[in-house]
Amino acid sequence: MSKVASLEQLKTLPKIELHAHLSGSVRYSTILRLLNEELASDYHETSDEKLKSEIQLMEELKSKPTTNCTSHRSLTECFQIFTILHRLLSNLNILEQVTNEILHDFQSDNCVYLELRTTPRNIFDSKTGELKVSKEQYLKTVVNVIESFEKENLMKVRLILSVDRAKGLQDGLENVELAKKFKSKHVIGIDFSGNPHVDSFQNYESLFQLCDSYELKTTVHIAEIWEDKDVDFILKKIRPDRIGHSVCLTKEQIDYLIRNPIPIEICPTSNLVTKCVDVIENHPFYEFYTKKDTYPLVICTDDFGIFDTSLSREYSLISTAFNLSFKEMFDLSRRSIKCIFDQSNELVSFLEMVFNEFEKKNFE
Ligand code: IMP
Ligand code: ZN
Repeated sequence: MSKVASLEQLKTLPKIELHAHLSGSVRYSTILRLLNEELASDYHETSDEKLKSEIQLMEELKSKPTTNCTSHRSLTECFQIFTILHRLLSNLNILEQVTNEILHDFQSDNCVYLELRTTPRNIFDSKTGELKVSKEQYLKTVVNVIESFEKENLMKVRLILSVDRAKGLQDGLENVELAKKFKSKHVIGIDFSGNPHVDSFQNYESLFQLCDSYELKTTVHIAEIWEDKDVDFILKKIRPDRIGHSVCLTKEQIDYLIRNPIPIEICPTSNLVTKCVDVIENHPFYEFYTKKDTYPLVICTDDFGIFDTSLSREYSLISTAFNLSFKEMFDLSRRSIKCIFDQSNELVSFLEMVFNEFEKKNFE
């Protein structure tokens, strides 16, 4: 018998988002608006030809909705969009604007706690090569938006800094040092991400050790492609606080995780669109969910802008594929509290209160 929760119901559910990249969470409509504004402006560094081709690419992708999951964006296509986004977000006013928009988008979807992640970047003048914006200025801009947002809104926000595997150890080291410096300023951990076809996290072992010594929590993107050679190294040697994706796993690796759990950030649409799984019913989520009823699993969006989704929609995909009821989805959402990086009493009590109140109103 079907007991699937409707999208409308799931929108009302308090939710926790733990795997969302800032750049990937910019809406298509916003990217298109920004590109068109740049094209119409009197002075722009990028040529008209390039801007027009970027607008065309974004229009094409926008017209391929991911809702029915029949349209795919390869990881390569996704990384093409990141290049456009990174140019747009080189302007701190735009970075401020889009960060604020992302926070409001999550809150409107009833997200009550968000761990947003981003890769701090030094931004150089394309003509003179001079440093225009430092990583620290980039980070301060994002932190300021979060601080102002929290003064006026209920949703709590923390920040994770990403180490991009394509940028090398030195770049990553700078981000870990920056995270240490901004620890009291909303930054709580480090994400290891970037194009999985480039470099190996085995070259980053010293950074994992540094994160430990600075008491920074860690999360690592693993098994988003079948050729990922780092999986055993991460699961057995590094043992981070959470892992992202974790889809392309062998039976032995799944069994190992069930015996030695690490919380998993599940990103259904991202995995479907990049063809990590063919249909959601084959997602290993269900194996973890059914084999060990306490396995820590958190449903996330990854890049809700690029994948044209929302946190509620990700919940809906899981509920529909695995016939999970509204109450089961509620329990799953509440279980996310155990996986958040900021385990301070004040925050955990706040989240428990929100979930308890919802439970009383809806299920008692
Ligand atoms: P940013 O760090 O806010 O600029 O967000 C974009 C960055 O997140 C990309 O350049 C990648 O390094 C990373 N990213 C986003 N989605 C994925 C993914 O699915 N796999 C690996 N890395 C990703
Ligand atoms: Zn990701």
